[in-house]
Amino acid sequence: MEDIGTSGTAQGTAPKPEDIFTPRAPAGRRMFVSREIGPKITNALNEMGAQLIVYGDTGAGKTTLVLESAQESVARVECHQEKSFTDLIRDAFGSLGMVQELRMTTSNATELGAEVGAGLAAGGLGFVAKLTGRVQTKSQSQVTKEVEIIEQPLVDALLTAMGAAERRVLFLDNFDHIVSDNVKRSVAELMIAISDRADSSGNIKIVVAGIADSAGELLGLSDSASRRTISVRVAPMRDNEIREIIARGMGILAIAIDDDAAKKVADLSRGYPYVTHLICLHAARLVIGTKAQRVDRKLLGQAIRLAVEEFELDLETRFRKAIEHSGVSRPRTRILYSLADSRRNEWTFGEVRDEVEASFEATESKSDYTYLNIALGKLQKPEYGGLIRSWKVRGKTFYAFANPLAPSYIQMLVAANRVPWLLGE
Ligand SMILES: Nc1ncnc2c1ncn2[C@@H]1O[C@H](COP(=O)(O)OP(=O)(O)OP(=O)(O)O)[C@@H](O)[C@H]1O
Ligand SMILES: [Mg+2]
Repeated sequence: MEDIGTSGTAQGTAPKPEDIFTPRAPAGRRMFVSREIGPKITNALNEMGAQLIVYGDTGAGKTTLVLESAQESVARVECHQEKSFTDLIRDAFGSLGMVQELRMTTSNATELGAEVGAGLAAGGLGFVAKLTGRVQTKSQSQVTKEVEIIEQPLVDALLTAMGAAERRVLFLDNFDHIVSDNVKRSVAELMIAISDRADSSGNIKIVVAGIADSAGELLGLSDSASRRTISVRVAPMRDNEIREIIARGMGILAIAIDDDAAKKVADLSRGYPYVTHLICLHAARLVIGTKAQRVDRKLLGQAIRLAVEEFELDLETRFRKAIEHSGVSRPRTRILYSLADSRRNEWTFGEVRDEVEASFEATESKSDYTYLNIALGKLQKPEYGGLIRSWKVRGKTFYAFANPLAPSYIQMLVAANRVPWLLGE
């Protein structure tokens, strides 16, 4: 099977590490490791009229899953904060191939046919679209079809163009970037309208994906919209799935990896395939660059050192703000290391205290934990990096990392010997 969108896969060319390990791009078909939740997404895509919301942590594999499940039938649109609803629709038509001219007008405009500016985005589905152009089908024949739509309701114009291009899924990715309630409302309306036409359109549908703790946080829906929508949470991957990514990628590159090294990569990944790809990319490059025989713990240490430099830059800045750069007790640093080392991902105050005590010999008097309380408070403030967040349930406060990749990052710093203070303890 050919790998889409990667080079070096032509016959006779050995694949390069960057063709296989792609921390910043969705996994190609060869590298796709199937997941427990895969069938949930496929079933939702097949269900007549069902619209889909895919949500979860950053780097958990949302985009990869949707692209893999929808295959050639997907038209993907990347959302940006500054995009209006009409911009998104324009992008949708654009992703169908070579649309030459698309004009959208509001149906209630007195002179139908006047071009509509982005400012009218709030008009949402009141739009009438006029389209001329060619769309490319993604089928093997690569047929290009001429499409001309004379003033159809926008929804119908979109469905006609998608049908002609043989796409069944309009994929609005990175939807967490959309902040405008107007844009969200229009998308929700579009979902209803498309759902109602499922029968005649051949089950064309919308998939919305983005970083969120819940589907509602990503896109609040009216009752009629939620009735038509299935939401799927993409949780971190299982350990055996992460191990499969390592084994598969190294296997394709014909690089041997020691079992303890593979286990270490999986431990550091904590279910986030982004981390796995990042570390393995560097390890594979090192093996090839230094003509090493295999990935062992020593080479892996070097790879982690390189990988941590490239880890989401935002985390580095936040971490620097969070930790104390002098002093003896350094409670904020202790908290971050202890929690990163913990197997759980949320804690009560008492559990934070236990984690800190388990990782470090208690240096303060046991009965006084005010210092921990103050430190936890600071760790939530932007000026201290905001790495920790908290929330209350029935009067009880819970704490967690604001960025779920933070534990991996912190543990990679430790593994890379980048924390002399900690090592000296
Ligand atoms: N099923 C999988 N098999 C192999 N690799 C995967 C899989 N899912 C994700 N990955 C890899 O993990 C990384 C993150 O994946 P992806 O971009 O799909 O995540 P995401 O949840 O969409 O992230 P973001 O929230 O940042 O958009 C990529 O390097 C991708 O190649
Ligand atoms: Mg994504």
